[in-house]
Amino acid sequence: MNSLVSPLLSFHRSFILFLNLLSLFITFSNCHIPTTLEGPFLPVTVPFDPSLRGDTVDLPDTDPRVLRQVVGFEPEQISLSLSTTHDSVWISWITGEYQIGYNIKPLDPKTVSSVVLYGTSKFELVNVAKGQSLIYNQLYPFEGLQNYTSGIIHHVRLTGEQYKWLERDLANVDRSVTPWLVATWHPPWYSSYKAHYREAECMRVEVEDLLYSYGVDIVFNGHVHAYERSNRVYNYKLDPCGPVYITIGDGGNREKMSIPFADEPGHCPDPSTTPDPYMGGFCATNFTFGPAAGKFCWDRQPDYSAFRESSFGYGIFEVKNETWALWTWYRNQDSYKKVGDQIYIVRQPDICPVRQRMYSDCVASF
Ligand SMILES: *[C@@H]1O[C@H](CO)[C@@H](O)[C@H](O)[C@H]1NC(C)=O
Ligand SMILES: *[C@@H]1O[C@H](CO)[C@@H](O)[C@H](O)[C@H]1NC(C)=O
Ligand SMILES: *[C@@H]1O[C@H](CO)[C@@H](O)[C@H](O)[C@H]1NC(C)=O
Repeated sequence: MNSLVSPLLSFHRSFILFLNLLSLFITFSNCHIPTTLEGPFLPVTVPFDPSLRGDTVDLPDTDPRVLRQVVGFEPEQISLSLSTTHDSVWISWITGEYQIGYNIKPLDPKTVSSVVLYGTSKFELVNVAKGQSLIYNQLYPFEGLQNYTSGIIHHVRLTGEQYKWLERDLANVDRSVTPWLVATWHPPWYSSYKAHYREAECMRVEVEDLLYSYGVDIVFNGHVHAYERSNRVYNYKLDPCGPVYITIGDGGNREKMSIPFADEPGHCPDPSTTPDPYMGGFCATNFTFGPAAGKFCWDRQPDYSAFRESSFGYGIFEVKNETWALWTWYRNQDSYKKVGDQIYIVRQPDICPVRQRMYSDCVASF
């Protein structure tokens, strides 16, 4: 594998100029959206622009702009997604007081009316639709939220050490029905920022093989208050069948933005300071292969990091069909026309076969 990576990198270096020109062309022509099929991409860092930071402060809870507008179990945030059948949509919502305690029983869906008011943009909501609602989360923690399928996406929620549960869950996904596997958890594995650098290594060591063998397509993480998108990667090696990792912890935070990178001089953290106490101790040893072999940090943007920018922002993930999805990242101040980062994430089930195992087969192995 080692010998595969080096030629790849030197190939890249000799084509730097060509690719730079190509990316200039892409920027100016603004008509080609890159796809992961064209990757791996040379790392890009958009320099931090202090003028974009503005007066980022937390509004106090009493500020009318952040006060909750709803009471009790009225919906606070509604999510709509397409169902597999053409005549229905999935409606889910988050409601009520957030985290008011543990062991709270979910509401009986029958006691919650399912009414959606709708209308044309900018006009009054004059239409009413009533129907079945799937109430997967009134309050958390709630077991049912850990995995759910909306439309053609199966969502797997990882919290703590739930390896066996996760394996059973992944084995249960029929990829001919639910092609996309999107995983999300808090601390990123493939972030190159100094903040929280390699803190979740123990989790990565435990779980990465499993996610890879079941062909997880995309991973969303937070924790680091900035934006970063990876090339397809597995065990720190560029791999056309690895997931794309997106650090999207850039919603805004009073701890301010994450700006320094671990690969900048003087910013590589001391390995002993990095373990996350909630992530099972110390696993972050120095790299044993690749350009950072023998060291804890790279001396330039790692090749797994395709794009990074310190800015607050948000993204939209649009599944187009069973193999193509469009990921678009916007800086907070961007309009929808002004895109910070955009790529088609393309699944290749033909060259990246996915482990398909029925649950009954794996019972015996436990
Ligand atoms: C969620 O996981 C359980 C196993 O823990 C499985 O029985 C169930 O079918 C899964 N639900 C969905 C919607 O995949
Ligand atoms: C790990 O790398 C760091 C520099 O990143 C270095 O100071 C340290 O000595 C290395 N540790 C080992 C065991 O090689
Ligand atoms: C999937 O969607 C992409 C992007 O919209 C499109 O280019 C591609 O042809 C579609 N593929 C199939 C099999 O529909």
